[in-house]
Amino acid sequence: MDPAKVKGFLSPVEGQMLSQYAVQGVLLGEAVEIGSWCGRSTIYIANEIAKTGRLFFAIDHHRGSEENQPNWEWFDKEVWDEQAKAIDTLPHFRNNIRLAKLEATVVAMVGNSAAIGKAWGSPVGFLFLDGGHTMSAALADYRAWVGHITQGGILAIHDVFPDPADGGRPPFEVCEMAIASGLFARIDQVDSLMVLQRL
Ligand SMILES: C[S@@+](CC[C@H](N)C(=O)[O-])C[C@H]1O[C@@H](n2cnc3c(N)ncnc32)[C@H](O)[C@@H]1O
Repeated sequence: MDPAKVKGFLSPVEGQMLSQYAVQGVLLGEAVEIGSWCGRSTIYIANEIAKTGRLFFAIDHHRGSEENQPNWEWFDKEVWDEQAKAIDTLPHFRNNIRLAKLEATVVAMVGNSAAIGKAWGSPVGFLFLDGGHTMSAALADYRAWVGHITQGGILAIHDVFPDPADGGRPPFEVCEMAIASGLFARIDQVDSLMVLQRL
């Protein structure tokens, strides 16, 4: 299945770059994604992880971010569950992972990403950060997960816009904070995807 045809927010060049770094990172620890939506980024990454025989942990509460809610810019009525009166991308995600033949590789973790990060216990060699984009959500994810990333591990952040005219600032600010902490160095970038490496 072509991941570009899955509902989502990642460009093909971002998907290719992510999968390249995921394969590098998974040599050092687990590979984790925060923010799967309907599985576009998941499929780009898991297609390559599958070749290594490792798992890919895909975290999302599947209720959508702020900007996906009714009357917001990125609302999509096709993922609205009328019975729950809420967004539900999980059935779409699950179906797409099945169609992509990645059920043996992708482990869906349905819940709050920061809460899962606090309970997580394994070293992480690749972390893709693409969950909530408010400052509090982006910061909570960063704080809950940063300590799990191993030396040499990859932290990839999506929607990093240095110019506020191009988009919201929190992913950019988290990225700057990671670099300013001295723990990470910027190693690559394409479109709005920034790739950092744990020093
Ligand atoms: C921008 S979308 C992810 C897009 C996806 N990576 C792609 O390739 O299209 C952000 C996702 O983060 C999820 N999300 C937002 N806040 C979250 C949280 N606190 N815990 C878990 N998932 C969250 C939303 O449900 C949404 O599916």
